[in-house]
Amino acid sequence: MKKPVIAANWKMHKTIAESADFARSLKAAFPKPQGTVIIAPAFTALAAVGDVLKGSAIHLAAQNLHWEEKGAFTGEIAAAMLVDAGCDCVIIGHSERRAIFKETGDWINRKVAAALRAGLTPILCVGETLEEREKNLTFPVVERQLKEALNNISSGDIKLLSIAYEPVWAIGTGRNATAIQAEEVHRFIRTILKDTCGEHDAADIPLIYGGSVKPGNTGKLLAEPDIDGALVGGASLDFDSFAAIIQNASKEKGN
Ligand code: 13P
Repeated sequence: MKKPVIAANWKMHKTIAESADFARSLKAAFPKPQGTVIIAPAFTALAAVGDVLKGSAIHLAAQNLHWEEKGAFTGEIAAAMLVDAGCDCVIIGHSERRAIFKETGDWINRKVAAALRAGLTPILCVGETLEEREKNLTFPVVERQLKEALNNISSGDIKLLSIAYEPVWAIGTGRNATAIQAEEVHRFIRTILKDTCGEHDAADIPLIYGGSVKPGNTGKLLAEPDIDGALVGGASLDFDSFAAIIQNASKEKGN
């Protein structure tokens, strides 16, 4: 059975000290996690958390990056800077960045390419709004977002990604997608990936669900065959809650 991928997206929360303390506790609690555990602190805390996690099995992700390598891009952070801070993953195309900061499919595509060039694993986020779901547009929206993000990315590189399905209506609302709703979209994403990278590689790409994941719904969501893990927002800010999500995921997908 595939091992779970559990990622914490801390968004704009936690000081440097709070982030480093959390990372220290996580490293101590999960010296050999059954699967992949990732935390994505704010930019300011990356280097400090990177130091704490050195030599541990916990992965460090940034929440965004810029596609250029360097230059006059005030306020932006390049992929190599993230690697320098200890990151090996980066979240790209989160719905908050798409909606609030007006990120386009083209930008997201450039960011995926830049991350891959630097050796970072992109955690590419896709997902529909409530309005799109109600108009039966979930599949076309997810397909468009995927195709835009993966434009001109080779199949060899696509298999290095993780993909997060985060329905916008489930983020921070307490209303998670049901396991059946989430599985349906994950299966659809897997089918698109099969067309691009072939059945074997598509089966190995972690497809993770995000949107009001909590300790209590983790097991049910991860019991689905195409849900390989979770991208957790609010419930990842509290250590006990995030630790319980990791444990419940391992129970469901561990061997
Ligand atoms: P919540 O878990 O708070 O719904 O957030 C999900 C999310 O956006 C993770 O990237």
